[in-house]
Amino acid sequence: MHNPQLHADGRLKHLLSIEGLPKRILNDILDTAESFVGVAEREVKKVPLLRGKTVCNIFFENSTRTRTTFEIAAKRLSADVLNLNVSTSSQSKGETILDTVNNLIAMHADMFVVRHNQSGAAHLIAQHVPDHISVINAGDGRHAHPTQGLLDVFTIRKYKPDMHNLRIAIVGDVLHSRVARSEIHALTTLGVPEVRVIAPKTLLPSNVEKLGVQVFHDMRAGLKDVDVVMMLRLQNERMTGAMLPSPQEYFKTYGLTQEKLRLAKPDAIVMHPGPMNRGVEIDSSVADGLQSVILPQVTYGIAVRMAVMAILAGGGQA
Ligand code: CP
Repeated sequence: MHNPQLHADGRLKHLLSIEGLPKRILNDILDTAESFVGVAEREVKKVPLLRGKTVCNIFFENSTRTRTTFEIAAKRLSADVLNLNVSTSSQSKGETILDTVNNLIAMHADMFVVRHNQSGAAHLIAQHVPDHISVINAGDGRHAHPTQGLLDVFTIRKYKPDMHNLRIAIVGDVLHSRVARSEIHALTTLGVPEVRVIAPKTLLPSNVEKLGVQVFHDMRAGLKDVDVVMMLRLQNERMTGAMLPSPQEYFKTYGLTQEKLRLAKPDAIVMHPGPMNRGVEIDSSVADGLQSVILPQVTYGIAVRMAVMAILAGGGQA
């Protein structure tokens, strides 16, 4: 079946979701990102791969990390960057998403980076734009956050290079997490042999096992001997009723503390996509501790986003 993310010759056309992308594309993005890591160390932190191109960031939902690292990434590729502030745009006067996009196309945009609280928004825009424009999904509803999934596997590969010999636990609100879905698809496509999800039943999608993961409701059992612990934020804004007794009770059962972390391998790394709820899903001593790679995730996100944009624009390494 035709994948709308790919050109007829198999090259990447849009990045909308990790699901359905072949392993060679994921490896190409990760290997290309490797070449961009060093750009940040240069006196002039720029390469000319997107010179003359215009990247439009349109975020219909709040963001700290994703929006800013896309902006930095595009600027390091020498693109012109336009950040549409949706809260002060004519969306508030009733303009549709596609009319907003049409206006940006009329300004000769070359690439759209889109975040929206509705699943499928980036797909809708990708179907609408002319052939020479690429769309990157920067998070849509509960569905997908592909560059977060890619930067997470890039970070794991940096600290644990043998992906074929890893046990990884994803802990928390999997049900509402587009990050978890993208991570699971990336990890299983890249051949990680054991991906666990640890959560109460109320915070797991039905049939989650079909994604190729092992399910644990007991956090202590699920953390036993893992190499990587990926914590997820409780997405209260996406919950439609009381799914948990209280944040305090949740922290007692599913919060990552030093004591629980000791059940993982001694050299296990701790990850979190942000934003973190300290004292709800993670204790500050763990978030800021020696095993935490939460801030390196953010740094590597720039190289990964540079790689995605460079590949979509026709390829090239630093
Ligand atoms: N991880 C992530 O998507 O963070 P932001 O919401 O701050 O972009």
